[in-house]
Amino acid sequence: MAIREILKLPDPRLKQVSAPVERFDEALRAFIADLEETRQAGPAAVGIAAPQVGHFQRIVILDCSTTRKPVPNHGHLVLVNPEITEWDGYEIGREGCLSVPDYTGNVIRATRIHLKARDARGEPLEFDMEGFEARAAQHEIDHLDGLLFVDRVVSRRTDLFRRKVYQKGGRKKAEEA
Ligand code: NI
Repeated sequence: MAIREILKLPDPRLKQVSAPVERFDEALRAFIADLEETRQAGPAAVGIAAPQVGHFQRIVILDCSTTRKPVPNHGHLVLVNPEITEWDGYEIGREGCLSVPDYTGNVIRATRIHLKARDARGEPLEFDMEGFEARAAQHEIDHLDGLLFVDRVVSRRTDLFRRKVYQKGGRKKAEEA
């Protein structure tokens, strides 16, 4: 296993659209192990997407089980080729991102989603998600389409906030994705 380097804004590779995974093989599972190690090595992000480490396949890891507030969630998830098939409601919330270390931002997301994906062995998965987990899933899937939360804020002037300190493993950790 190895910790990968995280691409950061304004790296143009973050705008690249990732390709679907076609082979559910050992190479895929080895990459997922690296992605998980990288997620845990930094400020313990609730999510990470493959293109954030320069690997342009549709792979996301989510884990909203360690957030400060008790929120409904499905624990640790590896989502390959994730797809949101239903959206319901919307709400504004603050987001951070490993690829945007200097800012957080207010972003409008669907409150509830239905999500389909495959696991690391190609087995189908389906989830109904809400609240923070739904937000994190939408944020991560955006990465697969070359979008960052800073592309989603209504106004860069009023909805982006400079971080005072980026605390490794600190209080802000639940907001990274
Ligand atoms: Ni992110």
